[in-house]
Amino acid sequence: MSENVSKEEPIISLKNVSKYFQDKKTIDNVSLDIYRGETFVIMGCSGSGKSTMVRLMTGILKPDEGSIFIKGKDIAKISSEELDEVRKTFGMLFQYSALLDSLTVEENVALPIKEHAKLADEIIDIIIKMKLSLVGLRGYEKYYPSQISGGMRKRVGLARAIALDPDIVFYDEPTSGLDPVVGGAIDKLIKELSEKLLITSVVITHDMQSVFNIADRVAMIHKGRIVDVMPAKVLNNSSNPYIQQFINGRPNGPIDFFKEDINIEEIFGL
Ligand SMILES: Nc1ncnc2c1ncn2[C@@H]1O[C@H](COP(=O)(O)OP(=O)(O)O)[C@@H](O)[C@H]1O
Ligand SMILES: [Mg+2]
Repeated sequence: MSENVSKEEPIISLKNVSKYFQDKKTIDNVSLDIYRGETFVIMGCSGSGKSTMVRLMTGILKPDEGSIFIKGKDIAKISSEELDEVRKTFGMLFQYSALLDSLTVEENVALPIKEHAKLADEIIDIIIKMKLSLVGLRGYEKYYPSQISGGMRKRVGLARAIALDPDIVFYDEPTSGLDPVVGGAIDKLIKELSEKLLITSVVITHDMQSVFNIADRVAMIHKGRIVDVMPAKVLNNSSNPYIQQFINGRPNGPIDFFKEDINIEEIFGL
């Protein structure tokens, strides 16, 4: 009877999702299942559609074709009130979402709490202290972003992302702009938080070190298409030429930078 045992329901499920910008098909017929508790990494070159995928999964963008199910609900079809409810269960650490420089560390972490939950100030204070200690930043409550290092600012961003005890956290290039040691520390923290707080993590990156540090499963995206999905531990043995080229950083292969992504004439004004 084992063939009748249904597989676990995915927490995120994309079915034949496409997204166009003007006439360009930026996301091309993507189907993908992400399961509760896993750390799922989406890797690919610049411009391949990674950020667009996350914007679709978080409901910031609507797909032109296909469906996006979060915990069984098609987020492209629900009302904006229902979408708000779903989004309350998300944490996000976006590529360029810097902290607000005019606010202290604790005020930055408090932002989503004040926006989404009606809680007394004393309770919010306790939550902030808990979240800051989870990312190793107790004592930095009153500092301003300009007074702490880049790695610490990322950690404040992490504390803010987990402020509302999310089920799913989306990270867009969490280690970009950090040196390998600090990046490695952020990876470790992401992995620890995911395990400690039972979070499903969706991480976008082109940092291979990060992929090997944190991924349970990996999808590779190229020109808006998923070229492969596999457990991270078999990545090195993959015979997929896109995966091989990407993980080894080779200039030659099916990913043709010169033909596809760089317009030489435009660069040199020809
Ligand atoms: N809002 C938008 N309007 C028009 N084009 C966009 C928009 N967002 C992204 N694009 C284009 O879609 C492609 C994929 O972008 P993106 O998802 O940001 O890639 P990645 O995150 O992998 O670098 C790029 O060619 C980008 O210029
Ligand atoms: Mg991006």
